[in-house]
Parts: sequence; structure tokens; C-alpha cells
Amino acid sequence: MPAIVVEGGRPLRGTVGVLGAKNAVLKEMAATLLAPGRHIISNVPAILDVELMGRVLGHMGAHTKLDGHELSVVIPDSLDPEAPIELVRAMRASIIVLGPLLARCGEARVALPGGDDLGARPIDFHLGGLEQMGAHFELVHGVLVGKCEGKLRGTEVELPFPSVGATENMLLAGTLADGETVIINAAREPEIEDLASMLCSMGAHIEGAGSAIIRITGVENLEPVRHGVIPDRLEAGTYAIAGAITGGDITVTSCVPSHLRMELLKLEETGCEVERGEGWMRIQGPERPKAVDFATLPFPGFHTDMHPQMVALLSVADGTSVITENLYDARFRYVGELLRMGADITTEWQHAVIRGVERLSGAPVLAHDIRAGAALVLAGLRADGVTVVGDAHHIDRGYEGFASKLAALGGAVEHRAE
Ligand code: EPU
Repeated sequence: MPAIVVEGGRPLRGTVGVLGAKNAVLKEMAATLLAPGRHIISNVPAILDVELMGRVLGHMGAHTKLDGHELSVVIPDSLDPEAPIELVRAMRASIIVLGPLLARCGEARVALPGGDDLGARPIDFHLGGLEQMGAHFELVHGVLVGKCEGKLRGTEVELPFPSVGATENMLLAGTLADGETVIINAAREPEIEDLASMLCSMGAHIEGAGSAIIRITGVENLEPVRHGVIPDRLEAGTYAIAGAITGGDITVTSCVPSHLRMELLKLEETGCEVERGEGWMRIQGPERPKAVDFATLPFPGFHTDMHPQMVALLSVADGTSVITENLYDARFRYVGELLRMGADITTEWQHAVIRGVERLSGAPVLAHDIRAGAALVLAGLRADGVTVVGDAHHIDRGYEGFASKLAALGGAVEHRAE
């Protein structure tokens, strides 16, 4: 397994650019299934999850090719509507093909993803919504077999929680459905707006994406598209915290600061100076951050995928922070690794109390998921001595060239393919 090796103690300085959002491009790749022909998606990061989604589409008969940061996807006239367990296990986001496959083929065979390192992660809202649109599901030896007679039917779907994935599956399914689909209590994440904007360029009729009520009027056919992915706010936010935790001075370019409003506000509360402009932000970290409290919430609240990185910062803060995780029941697994580095953190169900320590000490630690891995690298930048973050393939799933970008900012960071 690859590892990222960090020698701490150097403030990071300079400019770093971010690429397209992982959590937009994966869904946009699934959206191409809705229209045969050649699609071009640009600003695509060369990360493991994009490769895995390429394999999922490939299994269905599509051809994908990433050239630099431009991805070409060729969708054939007829698809094999199946996502097998080895691919779904490798990347849970594969479940997003359910909506497009049912809409395009009237059938989908997708292995049930099960839980992952973040917890149980059920898909009942996805299935409930698609059932309301006329699909039937059966679980056959661990594979979800979905069918609909004729076209999916537009209807009103009220989500019990603004789930990102369920909103996206409804949105994708609704584009080719018969009549109007209304998603109530929809997720409002910028990635959903970007997906909707791509679907509109393909000929879909969508109103309200980015708000809690989305209306989709089904059309007969969609066309192949050329689309540029929005910047990855999580990549941008992670570099912002790299500046903060090292007391450095970092300018992040090709980003949208308004997508990180709450996270930047909290960084300011820790004592960071944050300047924002059109497509850029500058973060100057304090010598020692101040403690702050926060709770994770759907957009525009504090993003759960910025939580571990923020806790890495708060672990060296002056004072005690209390944080609440509202999205994932197993998100705190990385805390045990931070304890190995000398952090003082206690967790109780969905809360963590972080008593800031003056210094962290480098240690061998393991990345359990993408953001946990990023957080441990950030902690390593601040720690005395060497931190080896093992299982770094998790980090490679979401960040292109993480180690080399940090190294270009002056960090002693190296990616080892072990
Ligand atoms: N939920 C249900 N039932 C469902 C769907 C969701 O109970 O049918 C629950 C989940 O268990 C969770 C909450 O609702 O507690 C929110 O889950 P959501 O569906 O919004 O998340 P997701 O679509 O599975 C995406 C991102 C995650 C990100 C979340 C929240 C992708 C590929 N993944 O997941 O990103 O944490 O939204 O913003 O878009 C990451 O990039 O590291 C990552 C994990």
C-alpha cells in the first residue's frame, strides 16, 4: 500500500491551484449514460475514483479516456445495465448509476454497496424515491435488481433528509421520466447545481437546483455534452487548512470561496486571516490557532468532509473545542490515529472534545478514508519529526498529486508507492 511521508515543522507558503470537484465529476460521468454519443468533461482530476467510475461505465459498454484533465466518454446505443460487486465495493458512489440506468434501459443490476469506513450509509432514500417513480427492486444474492415497465413516472418525492446521492439519483432519473418530478428537501450542494447545469446543456429541463425544491420536466432524449467541472471545494479547503496549521501563507487559486463560506468563517475564528477574491483565496495561519466549536451539516453548513482536517488544526489550538458530527456514525475513526501523534481528544457518540496540545509528535498512522488521510498529513506538517501515513491509496482517491502540491508549497512531503 502507498504511504505519504511528512517531516513536520515547515510553514507552507505560495500558491496552489485546485482541480474539478470529485463529487461532481463522478455523478457527471454517470450522467453521460443518459445520452449515446461522445461526451467531453474538462477540469477532471486524475484521481483513483475517476478511474474506478471509468471502469464502472466500461463494464456497461462505454469507452472512457482521460487525456490530461480532459475526459472523453463514449456511450454506445445499447448498454449492459450492470455494476458488479468488485467495482461497487471499490467505490460506493457507483450507486449513482441506478437512476440513469433505469431511465435509459428500464433495468439496473447494481450490487448493494453495504457500509464503509464512514459507517452504515444506507440507500433507502434512493430506492424509495425511484420506487415512487415506478421502479421495483428485488435483492438477488446481494445484487439490487431494479426494473420499470415503460418509462419512469414523474412524481413528487419528499426526501426525509437532504441526501446528496439520493437527490442526484432522482435528478438523473427525472430527466427522461414521463412528466414532472419534484424533489422536496433536496440537497443544495454546489456539486448538484453543477450536475444540473450539465444535464441542462444535454437538453434536460430543470429548475431550482441549488435550492431545497428541484423541478424536472422529463424530455424524450438527451444529447452528448461538453462540460467543465466546478472547482473542488474540499481540495481547496484542505490546502487552506495546510496554510493554517503550519502558520503559513497560502493562496489557493481556481477555487470558489463562496462554496466554503462556513469553513472559512470558522478558520477566521481560529485566528487565520482570510482574504477572498474572484476565483482565489489567501489564508495566513496564526502562530497558534484558537479553539472553536462547530457542527457538521448539509450545505451551506460546515461540510463533514472538512471535519477531520479542521480537527487536526484544533488539536494544536489554544483551548478546548467541542465539535458535533451529524452526518456519519463512524467518522471519528481517525481520532485514534491523532491520539498516536499526541492529540488530546475524547469522543462520545457524535461529539468530540478536543483539548489543544502545544505540539504533536510524528508517528506511523493509517488513513481510514480520504479525508481522514488528508487530516493526518496536515497533522504531520505541524508535528515534530516524521509522520508516515499508511494506506495512502485512500488519499489518492480524492486528491491529485497531494504530496507533490504540498511539497511545492515548501512542505517536506513525499508519496511512496510501497
Ligand atoms: N442517508 C440515508 N439513506 C439514504 C441516503 C443517505 O440514511 O438513502 C444518510 C447517510 O447515511 C448520511 C446522510 O444521509 O448519514 C447523508 O448522506 P448523503 O446521501 O448526503 O451522502 P452521499 O451522497 O453518500 C456524498 C459525498 C460524500 C459526502 C456526503 C455528504 C460523493 C461521492 N460522496 O455522499 O463525500 O460526505 O455526500 O456531503 O459525492 C468524500 O468525498 O470523502 C465523501 C465521503
